[in-house]
Amino acid sequence: RNNRRVLEYHSDIERLNAPFLAIYESLIPTEEEKAKQKRLLTSLEKLVNKEWPSARLFLYGSCANSFGVSNSDIDVCLEIEDSDISKSEILLKLADMLHSDNLQNVQALTRARVPIVKLMDPDTGISCDICINNVLAVVNTKLLRDYAQIDARLRQLAFIVKHWAKKRRVNETYQGTLSSYAYVLMCIHFLQTRKPAILPCLQEMHATYTVTVDDIECAYFDRVEDLRDFGSRNIESIAQLVWAFFDYWAYRHDYANAVISVRTGSIISKRAKDWTRRIGNDRHLICIEDPFEVSHDLGRVVDKHSIKTLREEFERAAHIMQFDPDPCVKLFEPY
Ligand code: CTP
Ligand code: MG
Repeated sequence: RNNRRVLEYHSDIERLNAPFLAIYESLIPTEEEKAKQKRLLTSLEKLVNKEWPSARLFLYGSCANSFGVSNSDIDVCLEIEDSDISKSEILLKLADMLHSDNLQNVQALTRARVPIVKLMDPDTGISCDICINNVLAVVNTKLLRDYAQIDARLRQLAFIVKHWAKKRRVNETYQGTLSSYAYVLMCIHFLQTRKPAILPCLQEMHATYTVTVDDIECAYFDRVEDLRDFGSRNIESIAQLVWAFFDYWAYRHDYANAVISVRTGSIISKRAKDWTRRIGNDRHLICIEDPFEVSHDLGRVVDKHSIKTLREEFERAAHIMQFDPDPCVKLFEPY
């Protein structure tokens, strides 16, 4: 690892800007697709309101955080007053209603870590997961969406990283690799720590948005339209950033001691978080702090096998960006 030829940005990398941007553009969902998602949400809300008139549905995840590629599943959160009926009962009841309304593949997963009902809408072909009262996910969705509005390079970088992760099969939490949510946080953190910074740390600025969810205060500066030229002193191109992102995770990140933290816009130490040893199933082999649930390490799904896979993939990507004559093809070659 140490005898790698260290090359800084080569001017040659600039020729990759156009192809990377073309890949990014090709992944953006169309307005038509967005409209279909909205229509499905509205019709689901109507159905839900027949049983629970004051319940509301919110989109969260990639269809609402602006990091969704086309043809993704949509994530929906049902907000419902706490009553005497349990989450499982709500989900089973909901599954019944959806089934009677002709939605396909309806399945209630009541024992999952986040219990959901899955369904497919035969009219649009859109698949959808509905969870209950997961308000924190709705709030972190807004945080990601707000960051995306500050500098266009975040969305470009995150699309390329997510696309790479899916092709290389390192976006599978049940296999011990990272969630899309974790990859987006890695991109935000990376851009917060460029010199000069491309993104600010919204949670360190004065709060213009505050909500308390499950005893967690979520507060940050959300008037992002005022920050539109925040990153303009940094002129790094998308090709340079993709190169530097993989270089960072391949060769520069201190896996033994460091935790990346979007909340503080900096690296913090595993020691400070008491994430130095395995506790239960949390091994903390790659540490990504959730911006609001700060005791939550998004790398906790990574085990001693998958950390190896992950680091090898980062190194492969870094190597390709450095030396391959045609990185835009090689990088995304299916695993
Ligand atoms: N989420 C979370 N904590 C996690 C994983 C996910 O709060 N450990 C929430 C986040 O709000 C995230 C949403 O669940 O945006 C969906 O997560 P995920 O499927 O990882 O991301 P998507 O952005 O939906 O990506 P994809 O395009 O792959 O569906
Ligand atoms: Mg999703």
